[in-house]
Amino acid sequence: MKKLLLIPAILTTFASAEAYTQADRILDMQKMAQAMQDIQTGFFYNNIDIVKDGTKTLRETIKRVGPIDSEINTKDIYEKWINNSLKMTNKIKKKITKKAEDIDERFESGDPKQALQAYSKISQQCLKCHINIRKW
Ligand code: HEC
Repeated sequence: MKKLLLIPAILTTFASAEAYTQADRILDMQKMAQAMQDIQTGFFYNNIDIVKDGTKTLRETIKRVGPIDSEINTKDIYEKWINNSLKMTNKIKKKITKKAEDIDERFESGDPKQALQAYSKISQQCLKCHINIRKW
C-alpha cells in the first residue's frame, strides 16, 4: 500500500521538474546573450579559456530552450503555430550547438577567422528564431 502512495508523489516531482516557464526562458535568453558577449571578449583578448566558457554556457543553455508549458497546452492559434515550429526550433538548436563546437575547434587550432564566422552563424540562428517564431 505504501508503494502505491509513492507513485503520485514521484509523478508530481517529475512534472514540476520539467515545467519550462516564460521566466525560465527569459533567463536562458539572457544567459545566452551574455555567453555570446563572453565569446566575443575571448576573441578580442585572444583568450581560449574565456571563449570556451562562453561556448560551454551556450551549449548547455540552448538545450533547454523551447515552447513553454502554456504554449504547449494552449488552444490559441498563434501559440499552436509556435508549437508546430518545434521542428525548426530543433534544427536551430542543433546548428547553434554545432557552431559552438566549431568555435572551440577553430580558435584552438589558430584559425580565429573561421571561429568568427561560426560565431556569426550563431547570431544568424538566434535572429532566425526571433524573426520567425518571436516575430521580432
Ligand atoms: C527557439 C527560438 C529562439 C532561439 C533559438 C533564440 N531565442 Fe532569444 N528569444 C526567444 C523568445 C521566444 C524570446 C522571448 C522570451 C519569452 O517571452 O519567453 C526571446 C528573447 C530573447 C532576449 C530578450 C530577453 C529579455 O530579457 O527579455 C534575448 C537577449 C535573446 N532572446 C537572446 C538570444 C540569443 C543570444 C540567442 C542565440 C544564442 C537566442 N536568443 C536564440 C526565442 C529564441
